[in-house]
Amino acid sequence: MDDYKLLISGDRPLMGEIRVSGGKNTSVAVIPAALLCDEPCQLENIPDIEDVHVLIDILRMLGAKVDYDPATKRMNIDPTTLSGFTVPYSYTQRMRASYYLIGALLGRTGEAEVAYPGGCSIGNRPFDQHIKGFRALGTEVEERGAVIHARGRAIGSGVFFDRITVGGTINVMLAAAKAEGSTILYNAAREPHIVDVANFINSMGGSIKGAGTDTIRIRGVSRLHASNYAVIPDQIETGTLMIAAAATRGDVTIRGCIPTHMESLTAKLLEMGVGVKESDDSIRVHTFRGQRAVNVKTQEYPGFPTDLQQPMSAMLTMAKGTSVVNETIFENRFKHLPEIARMGAHIRILEQTAIIDGVSELFGAPVTATDLRAGAALVVAGLMAKGTTEIYEPGYITRGYERLEEKLRSLGADIRRERI
Ligand code: EPU
Repeated sequence: MDDYKLLISGDRPLMGEIRVSGGKNTSVAVIPAALLCDEPCQLENIPDIEDVHVLIDILRMLGAKVDYDPATKRMNIDPTTLSGFTVPYSYTQRMRASYYLIGALLGRTGEAEVAYPGGCSIGNRPFDQHIKGFRALGTEVEERGAVIHARGRAIGSGVFFDRITVGGTINVMLAAAKAEGSTILYNAAREPHIVDVANFINSMGGSIKGAGTDTIRIRGVSRLHASNYAVIPDQIETGTLMIAAAATRGDVTIRGCIPTHMESLTAKLLEMGVGVKESDDSIRVHTFRGQRAVNVKTQEYPGFPTDLQQPMSAMLTMAKGTSVVNETIFENRFKHLPEIARMGAHIRILEQTAIIDGVSELFGAPVTATDLRAGAALVVAGLMAKGTTEIYEPGYITRGYERLEEKLRSLGADIRRERI
């Protein structure tokens, strides 16, 4: 349990400019991908978040040399000293995306023994598609107790995913990057960070084509050389800040983002009556009047991201009319809503659908974060609410958002920590 809570005194508009950090979901894949390299390489724009620090610990435990400077966001990884292939539960329970170590170690050493990551509060998160992909590449995969043991030189092959999976697509791409022969991934996920991982591997001399489409072609190479690669800005942080700006009826310009990654959210905000102006690498969100209710259905990219459903549904609790939110990716991603109902929101949940009747006011209350994006949703609700909102378990938020409190404060939010 966290030894502090967040206090937010809300009901004030966010105003000003803010720069978005490097992507969390791309960093947690690109850092393990660096293990594939046969020389030291340098990553840039890596956010200073808990998940990144867990990965640094894991890479060092495996024998790689890692230096990270949170001030410059630069990380040097020398994987040539790698000496192990086993990642025990004491490490993997600290972050879910530790599953990328399987694909990376398999690609690098031909063997990976990685404990299943810790439980997840957003629903059952099976690995069957990852395992199916590794097996299709001819590697032997055994699940012993709570450990996945994969072994063997990967041989290029066709992999048809039964369902679209971000993690599965990246993991099999990692295992196939140095395989013998060519691999084709069908029904692949198309998220921006899949393109980023492919671009990183290509920058080291890999050969991955089609990332960003549903068919990815990977020609295995025997060596990957040093590279200096900057990861893309965080799509979900950008969206969270856009929502926070709109929800507080503020006027915020988000700099250093990629507006084309935000199209599904931008379209919804425009539908709600929010002003959104895009330039090459910035988005201005401004809103001066009440927002209209909208319906939201989460989908794989380029659809509306499940990771933004939680902050978005927080904002919809004060939109005019009734919004219907349908979560299609994860089975248990509405845990923030009963908490926001404690603040005066009107919400009914029917399995994967939330029906939200907009209210004109929310009131601060003690609430508890259950996961990263639920935490972000509670922050949005707290910023909208009258009075003071107390958010317990805020540590979830720092796992994935870099300096969110500081960034919001610079936009005029009254948000602070208090020891408990
Ligand atoms: N699935 C399977 N079998 C598999 C893999 C996935 O059935 O082998 C199912 C999952 O249970 C889920 C759906 O497929 O219902 C999609 O899962 P996916 O594999 O796409 O998700 P993930 O790789 O586990 C990543 C992000 C999540 C984000 C999802 C969906 C990272 C590190 N995590 O998870 O991010 O919600 O894609 O876009 O990239 C977050 O940042 O808060 C977060 C949870």
